[in-house]
Amino acid sequence: MGILEWATSPLGQRVPIHIAWFLIWVALIVGLLFLIVHAIYVRYFAHKAEFVSEPSAAVSELPARIPRHSLAARLFHWIMAAAMFVLLVTAFLPKVGVQFNWVTYHWIAGMVLTISILFHIVHSTFYLDFWSIWPDRSDLEDAWKRFYRFMGKPKGLPRKFAKYPLENKLYHGVVMLSGLVVIVTGICMMFRVRTIFFPRNPYLFSDMTWGMMYVLHGLAGVGLITLTIVHVYFAIRPEKLPITASMIVGSMSREFYLKEHDPKRWVIESLSQRRGIADGD
Ligand code: HEM
Repeated sequence: MGILEWATSPLGQRVPIHIAWFLIWVALIVGLLFLIVHAIYVRYFAHKAEFVSEPSAAVSELPARIPRHSLAARLFHWIMAAAMFVLLVTAFLPKVGVQFNWVTYHWIAGMVLTISILFHIVHSTFYLDFWSIWPDRSDLEDAWKRFYRFMGKPKGLPRKFAKYPLENKLYHGVVMLSGLVVIVTGICMMFRVRTIFFPRNPYLFSDMTWGMMYVLHGLAGVGLITLTIVHVYFAIRPEKLPITASMIVGSMSREFYLKEHDPKRWVIESLSQRRGIADGD
């Protein structure tokens, strides 16, 4: 049993038509196994996270609530999450036996996802701190230290995190790639079905190209099952709840910020700076 399903085209060529649907169960099981192993590791084996202690300058100058996500960023996150949820449900329920007329709901959710991602690209490039989500040299140095310490070898303590820990940055990179694949292939696949945007044209690509497109769409799609499970798992872990709450209310407590983040790497406008801006208004 291979990971792809094949058919013979009218020209007699053997072409892939899509992924084998048992991969849905593989993705589910991998996601669930990850969270079981991680939860056991954290509960019974992990040591308390330790960071190099640096005197945090002017703590009293920090606001009691540290702004983390603007309203626009939060709206984007929840609209994208809703679209992703609808896409996963409409794509995979019919494949595991729950039959309904899914294609229209699917491409509509696909367009919502596409538009929200286009907004996110412009918003994060011009209005947010674009580089905050990409790994930097300090992340790699600290990851190295954390790995050594995990292996029980002596190594200095890592620094606290910038706005996003390395794990979040890597997760963002993988979701971004899978998201781009489903969006680009999904827009092409809209030519195979009836939509309001353009006339149907199943002859746009050769059978082989269509097949590869369906395969890529399916592989990135099942990958997103695992990625979504992992994301939701971390969002509801007790120690991560303040971060999840900040995606609703927009801010986190000063105490949580100082516990996990390095004020030099994630700089927050101090109260006096804020007052200065207000006075200057
Ligand atoms: C979480 C993201 C997504 C997942 C998991 C997903 C998954 C899937 C799956 C499994 C199929 C069935 C393919 C097959 O039968 O081989 C499919 C079909 C389709 N997808 Fe997606 N998809 C996603 C995003 C998108 C996006 C963003 C768009 C459009 C912009 C889109 C448009 C389509 C279309 C038009 C079809 C129907 C193709 C047909 O029936 O011929 N999808 N999708």
